[in-house]
Amino acid sequence: MARAEAPPPAIRVSKLTKSYDDVLAVNRLSFSVAEGTTAALLGGNGAGKTTTISMILGLLLPTRGRVSVLGIDMLTHRYDALPRMNFSSPYVDLPKRLTARENLKVYAGLYGIGRAARRIGELAEELDLTAFMDRPSGTLSAGQRTRLALAKALLNEPDVLLLDEPTASLDPDTGDRIRTYLETYRDTRRATILLASHNMAEVERLCSRVMMMRAGRIVDQGSPAELIRRYGRANLEDVFLDIARNRHLADRHPDRKGPEQKGPEQKGRAA
Ligand SMILES: Nc1ncnc2c1ncn2[C@@H]1O[C@H](COP(=O)(O)OP(=O)(O)O)[C@@H](O)[C@H]1O
Ligand SMILES: [Mg+2]
Repeated sequence: MARAEAPPPAIRVSKLTKSYDDVLAVNRLSFSVAEGTTAALLGGNGAGKTTTISMILGLLLPTRGRVSVLGIDMLTHRYDALPRMNFSSPYVDLPKRLTARENLKVYAGLYGIGRAARRIGELAEELDLTAFMDRPSGTLSAGQRTRLALAKALLNEPDVLLLDEPTASLDPDTGDRIRTYLETYRDTRRATILLASHNMAEVERLCSRVMMMRAGRIVDQGSPAELIRRYGRANLEDVFLDIARNRHLADRHPDRKGPEQKGPEQKGRAA
């Protein structure tokens, strides 16, 4: 019989905080991402997106707060969750002298993946890497390295994927194919994806939930359609600019409601 109650969120962060000496990079951040969905962290450079993703992965220790993934506490039971997670980031360099294939083999070994050669071959086809699989990673273009990093992230067929700018530096055609691949992957496996992206068209297409960050906090959130409607804008790019330029709704005085603003829909929205 189908269970009536909703499954626990695949990712839950609660009052997550990271402070460096003089910077509060992430400030009491709380949100959750439902299983099988894609959510985005958006925000200008320095908003705290990468720091948040690193703490969810357990690569960075929070100053305060909690993270759970697939119901597993990442501070106390991280190694139970890690086999079911993976990530890609343009900030992680794969060893440059190893070929793309060798890099993937090393990771497949680390993840304990059986029939690694076959899985690597499949991913090379699906992510269009075959032409450069045997070239040293250091000689690949930025777009090729991005695809290699995604292949690495998909090796262990993760249930939870954290993607930091997954399609940065991809040409529009390749970017589109990667987005289609990620959508299919999510929907066939009920995988959960949290991504940070500066590509608003990508976010509109992939994400049912968007969290707009500034200075380590969520300043607004909702589905792309909700945000667009609430801000009275034509697309998410314009909403992003409003928020980045400090014109987000929370800062607007009710008497000084902008002419394009459509009304009080923001009231009472579930977080
Ligand atoms: N290792 C670090 N030491 C000190 N400050 C850091 C460090 N890493 C990030 N920061 C600061 O934390 C803030 C958030 O950075 P980051 O999470 O990389 O933002 P984003 O990914 O949204 O661009 C920035 O002000 C950044 O300078
Ligand atoms: Mg970043």
